[in-house]
Amino acid sequence: MKMVRVDCLGANVSSIGFGCASLGGRIGARGGIEGLERAYEAGITWYDVAPSYGDGMAESILGQFASMKRGSVFICTKVGMRPPEISAAMRFLKPIARASLAVFPAIQPRLSAMKSKPFKVPLSAELIRTSIDDSLRRLRTNYVDVLALHRPTREEVMREDILRAVERVVQDGKARAISIAGESKGVIDGLRESLPYRLIQIANNPFEQNLRISADIAPRRTFITYGSFSSIDPLASRIKSDKEMLNGLREMGYQGNLSEMAAAFVVDYALATNSAGVTLFSMFRKEHLAFNLLRLAQAPMLHQLNRIAAALSKDRRQTEPMCGDSNDRRIERC
Ligand SMILES: NC(=O)c1ccc[n+]([C@@H]2O[C@H](COP(=O)([O-])OP(=O)(O)OC[C@H]3O[C@@H](n4cnc5c(N)ncnc54)[C@H](OP(=O)(O)O)[C@@H]3O)[C@@H](O)[C@H]2O)c1
Repeated sequence: MKMVRVDCLGANVSSIGFGCASLGGRIGARGGIEGLERAYEAGITWYDVAPSYGDGMAESILGQFASMKRGSVFICTKVGMRPPEISAAMRFLKPIARASLAVFPAIQPRLSAMKSKPFKVPLSAELIRTSIDDSLRRLRTNYVDVLALHRPTREEVMREDILRAVERVVQDGKARAISIAGESKGVIDGLRESLPYRLIQIANNPFEQNLRISADIAPRRTFITYGSFSSIDPLASRIKSDKEMLNGLREMGYQGNLSEMAAAFVVDYALATNSAGVTLFSMFRKEHLAFNLLRLAQAPMLHQLNRIAAALSKDRRQTEPMCGDSNDRRIERC
């Protein structure tokens, strides 16, 4: 397993992290724990969760998995989003929906469109204090490695009472570092070095090349990226309509049907553009874990991917994504 240095934790962690957004929702507890164990056996040490994930169940299930191996896993949880209310009828129907999904995976978009979604709650010092305590109880631990503000506004990221509340969480030993997670480039571009957010979680794929951020905010910050597979379908359509791109991908060694080529490319892109950070994938299916680990072992260098990434970006000037150098932590064009 490739490891990366997370300076603010003084630790090396797996460069692929396990995203637990579906744990307790689409994925039931038993299958979820099996998936997490499989990833752990394969060397994955970073687990990303939130109180809102899995209809509010993800932290408890992750806690069952992690409680016996707390010293050898890293956990990031969040504050700021609430799970939707799930009616008794929906709770009853959930196992049926999961069983149907296992047989007919194509129904997933329809099921997910029918589901109520987590919603944002305004951040406050009181929310941060109670949310971290609730998270620790569900996770069966007395600390998390990272507490992230979940989709904060620009105003929340800068606000004095929130800064004091997150610093207090660290002083009390309940979290070792603070992050912002899932926010727009607009929010992170406004970060100053003095702000306590040492990790930044942000979407990154060939259609959302968000790692082209200001070099001012990059030093000593670790990027945690997600959102790879949402770009498979648009990329497959693009390859279908662009013969030159199809040939370019084949010359680079990408094989299989359009979806397989797109999946391989988006994993390679995610890993190569965030080579110094952690790339989150949901990988409950064992073939997905195996595929993503294989790509990690074989991942081409970013410059090999740039031709395709450039064609996917309309703005020529912005087609060379920033990437971190895993040795010296600089962010550079490559
Ligand atoms: N901070 C935020 O606001 C925010 C937002 C979104 C996500 N996240 C974090 O990032 C994690 C990942 O989220 P994501 O949206 O990026 O999900 P993702 O990893 O793109 O996964 C989405 C789907 O892709 C499947 N998949 C995994 N590997 C695949 C492969 N090689 N080929 C084809 N499909 C594959 C997964 O299946 P299986 O799981 O069934 O194997 C899952 O159904 C989340 O779980 C969460 O922890 C954070």
